[in-house]
Parts: sequence; structure tokens; C-alpha cells
Amino acid sequence: MSTTETATQPGQTALRVVNGHAAEETYKYAHLLPHFSPDKYPPLTPFEHIDPGLRALNHPDPRAFLKGAESVIELTPNLGTQVRGIRLTDLDSDGRDQLALEVARRGLMVFRDQSDFIDQGPQAYLEWGRHFGRLHIHPTSGHPKDCPQVHLVYKDANSTFNFEIQDSITTTLWHSDVSYELQPPGLTTFFLLSQPTTGGDTLFASQVSTLKKLSPSFVAFLRTLSAVHSGVDQANFSRSGKRGGIVRREPVEHIHPVVRRHPVTGEEALYVNRQFTRRILGLKREESDAILKFLYDHIDKSSDMQARVKWEPGTVVLWDNRVTAHSATVDYGDSKERRHGARITPQAERPIPAGDGLVLPN
Ligand SMILES: [Fe+2]
Repeated sequence: MSTTETATQPGQTALRVVNGHAAEETYKYAHLLPHFSPDKYPPLTPFEHIDPGLRALNHPDPRAFLKGAESVIELTPNLGTQVRGIRLTDLDSDGRDQLALEVARRGLMVFRDQSDFIDQGPQAYLEWGRHFGRLHIHPTSGHPKDCPQVHLVYKDANSTFNFEIQDSITTTLWHSDVSYELQPPGLTTFFLLSQPTTGGDTLFASQVSTLKKLSPSFVAFLRTLSAVHSGVDQANFSRSGKRGGIVRREPVEHIHPVVRRHPVTGEEALYVNRQFTRRILGLKREESDAILKFLYDHIDKSSDMQARVKWEPGTVVLWDNRVTAHSATVDYGDSKERRHGARITPQAERPIPAGDGLVLPN
């Protein structure tokens, strides 16, 4: 009997071949496969968020954590930085604060060759994430068994990635993660444990830049507006029996400013997204629909404000969910290959209105 292992790189399937047949499959990250526990959670409660980036503002060199990097490349002028030669596992508390500030300023950072970070496992992911804020537990998604704070995205030959858009002509769906929460996420960490040979890139857009493209008088109007963000449709989709079929926490809706201000950089960003924003308050239905459609279309087609991350094994991506939007690209379905990602999602402050005097209801 001859036995061979075919896996050669981290995050790829290890296929044991016995006498020329695929006898069994072992998967390095089997312990991190999605689990849909029937657990129920109470509503989230408000908390005070102290942004770690604030602590780095007074640092004599807030980019000191990048010293020694092999390369630091700006992916686009206004969004995204790719780094090689820095180990995230080496960053101490001070370095993590600097990282938070740099991600806030660049919107997106892509760290290559971080297999040691990825291979640490769930408890280390939690310790990492808690530095940046209270960890969010997603109401409907799969998570590693006994670790609900780690949000998983998963697709393989037997499952689809996102049922909610399966009848759309595109898998592009720009959004800011769980924006329906009272305190949506800030600095977010995401990495792939397994990836297709090609495809599955992640798209990012700068919501600071999309706002800047608009005329000053229109921006002045947007600053006076707030909008409803809703988790109801996402929950109902799960309740229909799809995507794991569970709802751990009752869905919520919250009102956020249409233009928010980042608490550390002071930058203003557009804060509406096609997935979760439902209506602008104080406008007639047709007016709200027209403005939201215009803004969504603006984000959709603004490739001059977007960056595209092509994954390599060992890549860890961080983005500031407050000032960016992102979308999956599900172009690899025909390959039947596994794509398995994990997200660490600290919540941040309640969105701060950019418009002076805009008061949001509780
Ligand atoms: Fe997302």
C-alpha cells in the first residue's frame, strides 16, 4: 500500500491518497469549521469604547511599528497599504495601538506572511481582538465550536457562500459589517484558513473618498440626515432555514448619521450601505429611495476609490469598518474549492454625526 500527502501550503486541504484513491481527507483547520450552535443571547448593551488609535496619536512616531518592514506599499493613493516583513504576533500593546491608528488613516492594511498569527488558534484571536474593543458575536453566522466571537465565512463543494444574493446577477454587495448594531465594529481583522487556487478576492472602498467626491452643498445636506440600519432581513433569511438556520439574538434596527466622523482621525465618511441601510429619516419615501440609490450606485462604480485584495496563504487583512465598505467576490464556485475565512470583530463607538447639532434618537 502506498500513501502520499498532497498538501504543500498552509490552509490548503491535505488529501491522503492510498493506493491511488482519495481515501480520506484531513483538514488542518477542521477544528475551526462553522458550527451553528442553538445558543441564545440577550440584547447587546451599550458600553464605552476607548479607541486604541487615540493612544497612538501622541506617540513621537506613530508608524514606528512598521520599522524593519521588508516593504510597505500603498495599494492605491487613498486606500490600502500592503506590508511584508512585519509579524503581527510581535506587536506589543503600543504597537497594536499604532496599528489601529494606521488602519484608521489608510482604511485597509494587508499583512502578508502571517501564518504564525493564523495558526495560533481561537483563544489568541480573542486576545488580539479584545485589544481593539468589545468582541461582537454575530447573530446568525457560523463560528468555531465553543468560540462564538469568531465569525466564519465558508464555502466548499457542498455549500454556497451567501444565499441572500443567489438570485442576483452579481455577488458584489458593498456593505459595512453589521451596521445595524448600536455600536458597529471598528478595527476588524480577517484572514483565510483555506482559499481557492484563484478568485475570492475581497473588494474595499474608501467611504472617506466617496464622500469627498460629492459636491459641498450636497454633503452639507447629507450631514443633516440620519438613516435606519436593519438586521431584520438577515435574521429572517436565517429563520427561513437557510445559512445555518439559526438566530442567536433578536434582530435590531438602529439610527445612524448618514455622514459619520471618525473619533481618532476626525475624518468624515459616508455611512450608508446597500445591505443594511433601509431608509433616511425625515424624507418622503421616494426622496429617501432616490438618495440611497444614488449613493449606492456611486459606491458601486467608484473604482477610483476602491482597492482589491488578492489573497495569498498567510495573508491577514485589517480594515476600519467605520470608514470603508467591502464586498466579497464569489467567482470561484465552479472550482468546488474550499474558501474558509475567520473574522475578529471588535465593536466601536456609536457613530458620531459629522453634522453639528444632529441629534440621534435612542
Ligand atoms: Fe462583510
